[in-house]
Amino acid sequence: SRSIDLAVVPGDGIGKEVVAQGLKVLAAVLPQDVKLETREYDLGAQRWHRTGETLPDAELESLKGHDAILLGAIGDPSVPSGVLERGLLLKLRFAFDHYVNLRPSKLFPNTATPLAGRPDIDFVVVREGTEGPYTGNGGSLRTGTEHEVATEVSLNTAYGVERVVRDAYARAAARPRKKLTLVHKNNVLVYAGHMWKNIFDRVGQEYPEVTTDYLHVDAATIFFVTQPERFDVIVTDNLFGDILTDLAAAVTGGIGLAASGNINPTGAFPSMFEPVHGSAPDIAGAGKADPTATVLSVALLLRHLGHEAEAVRIEDAVAADLAERTAETVRTTDEIGDALAVRVAS
Ligand code: IPM
Ligand code: MN
Repeated sequence: SRSIDLAVVPGDGIGKEVVAQGLKVLAAVLPQDVKLETREYDLGAQRWHRTGETLPDAELESLKGHDAILLGAIGDPSVPSGVLERGLLLKLRFAFDHYVNLRPSKLFPNTATPLAGRPDIDFVVVREGTEGPYTGNGGSLRTGTEHEVATEVSLNTAYGVERVVRDAYARAAARPRKKLTLVHKNNVLVYAGHMWKNIFDRVGQEYPEVTTDYLHVDAATIFFVTQPERFDVIVTDNLFGDILTDLAAAVTGGIGLAASGNINPTGAFPSMFEPVHGSAPDIAGAGKADPTATVLSVALLLRHLGHEAEAVRIEDAVAADLAERTAETVRTTDEIGDALAVRVAS
């Protein structure tokens, strides 16, 4: 469409710094006739300290009206662990039914990887985003005693699994290699694991052109390091996907480059785009954060909204920028953002 109404949630720590660069590049890449409107939401640690609120209903309602959301990072050591993660980030993912957590991994030229032999890495993880062990289903009995019992139930519905598996097949079918790998742990997690595998096999009958494969999650971590080129599209559960995508980032140039989209493919709610990294309080405010992951998340955002050419321009600009980086190039967050903005504009 010819206008973008964007909600911006800078959040905590380096979130504010990287989001500023993402917006800079977004403004630079958009053609004159696409009107960009942004509204910033003050959510995160500071808000919580000030008012005790994580995500008030009124703000949730207002966020719902935007075309998409750009989020920086959530979390601060001054807030008890889980308060903002659950009360803000996961609340958004659940409320807006972001069942496709899309996390592409690509090894750009001239990017440092701990892998010998520099394999071609170009895969995308479709992480389920609304179920699994993330639903807060569990509890603790006799808390704090030596007889404490804690449960953390993984919730899996046929509806939830089928819709994300379908999305992954469609993505695999649209890629040149047309390969889809299911990652789970069905030798131990037999209830959810077998349901995932059954649905995966059943939906696969509708996609004869897609080659399929199954890996237990522990074996998948080995292949991420020894043979990452074997992957094209991966579909997996919420928690496995969380862990695998940090590993994927580590082997493709680090967490400073890893982008993600929390997508509601039906369009019923706005999708939300964010770097995979966190708020990095240790370097917050120092201008040291690499905004590239956020800039690449902006590319995913543009692609989602139908601005494919602009998405590609951003990805090409990042590739060109990375190609020129050397060990001596130490640039600030702002300088990297400026360089990318100049590249996408020309
Ligand atoms: C991520 C993060 C979140 C997650 C946390 C902060 C709740 O690690 O986006 O990968 O586990 O999904
Ligand atoms: Mn994570």
